[in-house]
Amino acid sequence: MNPVRVGVIGLGTVGGGTVNVLRRNAGEIARRAGRSIVITKASARDFRRDRICDTKDIELTTDPFAIVSDPDIDIVVELIGGESPAEELVVQAIKQGKHVVTANKALIALHGNEIFSLASRQGVMVAFEAAVAGGIPIIKAIREGLSGNHLEWLAGIINGTGNFILTEMREKGRDFAEVLSEAQDLGYAEVDPTFDVEGIDAAHKLTILASIAFGIPLQFDKVYKEGISRITRSDVAYAEELGYRIKHLGVARRTSKGIELRVHPTLIPERRLIANVNGVMNAIVVKGDAVGPTLYYGAGAGAEPTASAVVADIIDVARTLTSDPENRVPHLAFQADALSDIPVLPMDEVETSYYLRLSAEDRPGVLADIARILANHNISIEALIQKEPLEGESHLPVIMLTHRVFEREMNNAVTEMEKLPTVNGLIKRIRMEALR
Ligand code: NDP
Ligand code: HSE
Repeated sequence: MNPVRVGVIGLGTVGGGTVNVLRRNAGEIARRAGRSIVITKASARDFRRDRICDTKDIELTTDPFAIVSDPDIDIVVELIGGESPAEELVVQAIKQGKHVVTANKALIALHGNEIFSLASRQGVMVAFEAAVAGGIPIIKAIREGLSGNHLEWLAGIINGTGNFILTEMREKGRDFAEVLSEAQDLGYAEVDPTFDVEGIDAAHKLTILASIAFGIPLQFDKVYKEGISRITRSDVAYAEELGYRIKHLGVARRTSKGIELRVHPTLIPERRLIANVNGVMNAIVVKGDAVGPTLYYGAGAGAEPTASAVVADIIDVARTLTSDPENRVPHLAFQADALSDIPVLPMDEVETSYYLRLSAEDRPGVLADIARILANHNISIEALIQKEPLEGESHLPVIMLTHRVFEREMNNAVTEMEKLPTVNGLIKRIRMEALR
């Protein structure tokens, strides 16, 4: 049988890793796919740069459109990232009848609905396992392995850069900016690293996970997004004192009123497995009605872990090249005409417990005022730590954990507490999840 011919657009961290894995494991891959898979053409912007891969026997071009229009290429692998020109390249490839593999979560989260619809009309596959959680086969697990379940919720550490930063801050007391720079050098971070630290990248991934878990269209604009850039070393230390770890979580939960979609720093009890997922590792807990909670763990970024997912997708596509398009696994797990219009809840209607840190004046009655405001909003305090004021300071840090409360109530209570003359500055709040 003829080999499957692949064109790779982008030879950076993931593209380079993909070339290396496809070359190194060519024999085993051919035995799995039933045909050999060869990269015939690849593109990058500037071939004077050092590459992590050997490009021998690959035709190189600086024009990525030469790959999508090449009639001899069966599968286009898009690994440049971002929206443009990635979207134009993918759309053109599909229109040319080519199958597409991509690691581009921004592209899928923002344009996936249209891309999948076009791909279905053209009878081609668009595979995107590497777009979520690097090397963890979470798309396959949810879309196929758990397809008998009514999925209730999922929660995951889905940004490797963010987890690497939080881990280094907690374990080594390192500075945020310094660790981010190391994550960039290691190839973990996005081209624009604010995507990693402000929760945008995690929101792209959560959009995709929620869609395949609940059978809803991709709705990136409805995700509540908060990153890790305002987490301080003292928050990490206070959380630890209370028996918690701070992790950046993506949470998608089905409730009777709609679906919660949110990414934010979260206190998790330290005894939970996911609280102990460190460095660039990712982990996702998925709760199904039949299977109960399941946990998926592995490297969330980096050249070869991500290439592992890209190559698995290439093999999947190679296997189905000759199969009837009607019988393929749907792109978003559910049949395209069976997607649900269940609403995504506004953040005000989300219920969680909270960690609060405030700076209060060191005199009698201050805590009583705070407790009164919380009580007026039906917010009960689960734990409280009051620290000594620092030398020469009149304010002391107060840290509280609350029971569950609607976000709206907490917002109102925080606004009132911040107006107290005895409270200094803004109140820091971090949501908590028990993940039982
Ligand atoms: P890199 O920046 O390392 O590589 C990007 C590649 O695309 C480079 O070869 C670059 O060329 C080429 N390129 C960039 N812009 C253009 C353009 N406008 N036209 C043509 N070629 C272009 O990115 P990554 O490999 O890290 O990421 C690729 C994709 O994989 C992204 O979607 C990312 O989100 C995703 N991803 C990344 C992971 C990781 O760990 N890095 C993990 C999971 C997903 P040149 O080399 O000449 O600059
Ligand atoms: N920048 C991303 C991360 C790459 O750090 O998780 C993997 O998607």
